[in-house]
Amino acid sequence: MIILGIDTSCDDTSAAVVTSDRRVLSSVINSQIRLHHPYGGVVPELASREHVRNIVPVVQKAMDTAGVSWTDLDGIAVTVGPGLIGSLLVGLHYARGLAWARGIPLVGVNHLEGHILSILLEDETPSFPFVTLTVSGGHTSLYLVERPGVYRVLGQTLDDAAGEAFDKIAKILGLGYPGGPIIESLAASGRGDRIAFPRAMLSPGSLDFSFSGLKTAVSLYTQRWNQSPEEQANVQREDIAASFQEAVIDVLAAKLFQAAEEHRVDAVVAAGGVACNRALRERIRKEAESRGMQAFWPRPGYCTDNGAMIAEAGRLRMRNGERADLDTDVRSRYPVEDLQPMAGS
Ligand code: KG4
Ligand code: ZN
Repeated sequence: MIILGIDTSCDDTSAAVVTSDRRVLSSVINSQIRLHHPYGGVVPELASREHVRNIVPVVQKAMDTAGVSWTDLDGIAVTVGPGLIGSLLVGLHYARGLAWARGIPLVGVNHLEGHILSILLEDETPSFPFVTLTVSGGHTSLYLVERPGVYRVLGQTLDDAAGEAFDKIAKILGLGYPGGPIIESLAASGRGDRIAFPRAMLSPGSLDFSFSGLKTAVSLYTQRWNQSPEEQANVQREDIAASFQEAVIDVLAAKLFQAAEEHRVDAVVAAGGVACNRALRERIRKEAESRGMQAFWPRPGYCTDNGAMIAEAGRLRMRNGERADLDTDVRSRYPVEDLQPMAGS
């Protein structure tokens, strides 16, 4: 079985060709980072216009790199939500047209299920059940992954997503977009214990997250720091970045392992754009080791938005007998609990 996966949920136009033995024959990602850089965040109108420009060449490149023709395809998987409506529409309409014109089955994929299942694209995979932390620009959630298609939400952010917090703090520090990679490299030469920013653990035992208090604390501190030569002599910008990053990692790791222990799983997974962060991976690796658990994360190219995870999730959905009608629509909100369990997996 050969599947073409397409994702245009946010600011990346991605397409990939994946086989049923989970070989990724191609994965093409056209990033819009440079387009949105001056605005410090994604501008939805610009994102959808750019998807319109990119979708045809990106899909063609994925097909050419994989060395497959339209007649080789057994299915097309496309993200239908959650995401930016204007962006999602471009991918869905293109995939629908392609499926109709070429007579290829189409399946709609939940973007979050794509992130949850992205770990299956790696050679080393956890056995079910496991706990997954998906951390990206749009989402911060903890899932108990019982089996493909059966996901229990254990906790989620009550305000900002972790990636959004990285992006906003980078903007406050005047560092550009996207904030995650820039803060990570700045933090590498700073001291994470320099400023005691708040760690919102919420009510005892809660597995939810909140990053708005941390964002306000960093913002207020930075305003003071900008106006105080004495403070600047003591504390470097790198220290602010490192102290912020440490606060985020403390909360993410604490809740991930609390969830894993409560649900007695042996394996934890981190996925989504923020899971590219090496300091976060290192913390998770160490904490897992000390508890005798296994820790997994997809390679960076499968952590940030990509078509390969959509192709893999779509392949499992097709194997489950699911097909999208040609009048399938996009959904800005699409909780994973609304998904059908997959039979026999
Ligand atoms: O998964 P993704 O590509 O798109 C969404 O679905 O949101 O995630 C993008 C987010 C951005 O907020 C970006 O700042 C963050 O992931 N990110 C990182 C790192 N690389 C990307 N955050 C922290 N450290 C990183 N190395
Ligand atoms: Zn994503």
